[in-house]
Amino acid sequence: MKILVLNGPNINMLGIREPGIYGKSSFADLLALLEETAKAEGLEIEQYQSNHEGDLVDKIQQAYGKVDGIVINPAAYTHTSVAILDALKAVSIPAVEVHISNVDAREAFRQISYPGMACVHTIKGQGLDGYRQAILWLRDHLSR
Ligand code: DQA
Repeated sequence: MKILVLNGPNINMLGIREPGIYGKSSFADLLALLEETAKAEGLEIEQYQSNHEGDLVDKIQQAYGKVDGIVINPAAYTHTSVAILDALKAVSIPAVEVHISNVDAREAFRQISYPGMACVHTIKGQGLDGYRQAILWLRDHLSR
């Protein structure tokens, strides 16, 4: 089973960026967690991070026919990107949305998620462990 983990803008700044909200773990720690999860669960995990909306759209399109599931943290594009929503709908690959912080308890503009409208599940407010939870949820969903 192949899972693509996509991260949007500023996720590469984890550990530096607003540690009171996103925690002290770094982006390298997140990559290590993904590798550990892949090994422990016998999954093939590819990860990709970009600060650019079109790059994320390209990556979703390229996943068509090659990937079984997508875990995506669109970051700030969560609240603006109809393009990422449409890309997820275009490829119809089951996707789980992840947010490190609990967006529900934050500003009003974070309450809408466009890509989330094409996702089968969302995990919020679990810190980096949310990615592991999303991968396991997706694995179970795809095995059903
Ligand atoms: C985020 C929440 C978004 O509102 C924010 O723009 C991010 C990160 C999260 O993981 O909690 O960049 O997606």
